[in-house]
Amino acid sequence: MIDNLGNLKRTDYCGDLRSKDIGKDVTLMGWVNSRRDLGGLIFIDLRDIKGMIQVVIHPEEKESFSKAERLRLEYVVAAKGKVVARTPENVNMNIPTGNIEIKAEEIYLLNDCEPLPIQLNEAALAEEDLRLKYRYLDLRRPSLQKNILMRHQIMQTMRNFLSQEGFYEIETPILMKSTPEGARDYLVPSRIYPGKFYALPQSPQMFKQLLMIAGFDRYFQLARCFRDEDLRADRQPEFTQLDIEMSFVTQEQIFDLLERLMHTLFSEVLNIELPIPFTRLTYREAMDRFGCDKPDLRFALELSDLTSALQNTQFQVFRSAIQQGAVIKALCIPDGANYSRSKQDELISVAKHQGGKGIAFAKVTEKGLESGISKFLTEEESKAIIELTQANPGDLIAIVADNYDMTSKVLAALRNTIAEWQNLIPDNTFCFVWITDFPLFQYNAEEKRWEPAHHMFTLPREEHIHWLYEPDKYGQIIGQLYDLVCNGVELSSGSIRCHRYDLQRRIFDILGLSEQELNERFGFFLEALKYGTPPHGGIAPGLDRLVMIMTRAESIRDVIAFPKTLKATDLMCGAPSEVSEEQWKELHLKPGE
Ligand code: AMO
Repeated sequence: MIDNLGNLKRTDYCGDLRSKDIGKDVTLMGWVNSRRDLGGLIFIDLRDIKGMIQVVIHPEEKESFSKAERLRLEYVVAAKGKVVARTPENVNMNIPTGNIEIKAEEIYLLNDCEPLPIQLNEAALAEEDLRLKYRYLDLRRPSLQKNILMRHQIMQTMRNFLSQEGFYEIETPILMKSTPEGARDYLVPSRIYPGKFYALPQSPQMFKQLLMIAGFDRYFQLARCFRDEDLRADRQPEFTQLDIEMSFVTQEQIFDLLERLMHTLFSEVLNIELPIPFTRLTYREAMDRFGCDKPDLRFALELSDLTSALQNTQFQVFRSAIQQGAVIKALCIPDGANYSRSKQDELISVAKHQGGKGIAFAKVTEKGLESGISKFLTEEESKAIIELTQANPGDLIAIVADNYDMTSKVLAALRNTIAEWQNLIPDNTFCFVWITDFPLFQYNAEEKRWEPAHHMFTLPREEHIHWLYEPDKYGQIIGQLYDLVCNGVELSSGSIRCHRYDLQRRIFDILGLSEQELNERFGFFLEALKYGTPPHGGIAPGLDRLVMIMTRAESIRDVIAFPKTLKATDLMCGAPSEVSEEQWKELHLKPGE
């Protein structure tokens, strides 16, 4: 028999009760996390969103006792009773309610539950696909609930902070026009206009700029974004950005705002005082020193450039590489001299996985470089390598010769692998760094055209604006672009936008957009720029990635209530799915085409 809720009212949450509540009469509601029958008593761990408490049912409470005997895992129960102290031998210091329990007077069975298709026990988790199919059950696990609740707290703190800073929360359309920003669009066919489509926004970029033109001055939105791209551990096809835009601002003001926002978030949510201002690196510095534009600065390993020191080397491999324009860079692996052959081979496969050709190794001893390639080098060259890499006896030097991009890519991957192997990554550390001064354009040699290196709505550095009219300078133009990186994850990107019609038009010209393409894709936007556009700029931290970092979750799926798989499917409701022939017809589409 299932009891009705009737007039029963919850007085407290299970997880909120403490010793100070001893003597209080309470009504609790939740799920049966476990049931034990011991010495004639029944013990239930009752769980709700705030935590768990032990409920004891004595045989004298006949009706309740017989109900309790029928309780199974995940049955939904209300328990009326008194908060009492546990006897000393029953105190459980591992849970916050461990020194109290509820002496039950009445038990109500509000709903039963079939045997679960997945275990909720953290120690015996089912495989992820099955858990995603039963996501609503998996979400009962306290560790996932903690992430989702922290996400809520982060979002509320963001809203409060930005409102206090004079920002307005404004929603922008989900059904918009297809204006691909880099990834593929998700398209929605129009029923009313045969052959026409809406697109889901990859970000509200143009709308937030239009809001600046409209005069709203300071905008933010917790914006859903949709991108049909290859997924990874920190990518979802739909995700959320804290989208921000401000008028009449400089890069410095945006950095200051974000630093204070992050400081507030970490302090209010995690009780951690982040050191601000954050470190800054130019794009070039980040690439030279760490081999990538999202370096993990929780550990120090840095790359060294050996190209000049080996300019005249007799070692044929390096010599011919340098002659062909390659660079030679190295990474010193602390205490790596004792790496076995197979460990070195593992590093070589990391390099090959990145597209590299290989790695040359040299061990460092008290006498200098030994083994590996050392026999091909002069004494001065060996000395220079040790000096440049700041290696000590016992270290291993990994050397890569290739073009700049590949050398960087390979050594950046080695850097991360070695940090993990050698336990160089401290726990509970958050290293934020601004990456600035990205080039505005990059040349696509295959397609022989310029592409936006990052963002095509960006203003060049003021002193580089005239280079927009000097084709041999395009590659040197620095954009007012910036990324905020934390622990090796790109957390936010932003820029100071191109508020002048003539300059935005020029940028589109350089990118080779035809007049027709321009008008079709961006006509409305370009026209808007003509009507008194204020200087403006913004940034968009990825909320999911931020929550991932703050909760220390391993996957982005662990911080989203209903995520998609790496194959962009929703295993719970079965999306994407077939639609009826009727719907195909209504949308003027033909199945199979
Ligand atoms: P961008 O494309 O760099 O910039 O995105 C900004 C931030 O959004 C997050 N992000 C993602 N998170 C999860 N899954 C994804 N597929 C995904 N793609 C991006 C990242 C990233 O740093 N309109 C500009 C922002 C601006 O200039 O104001 C934009 O969208 O954390």
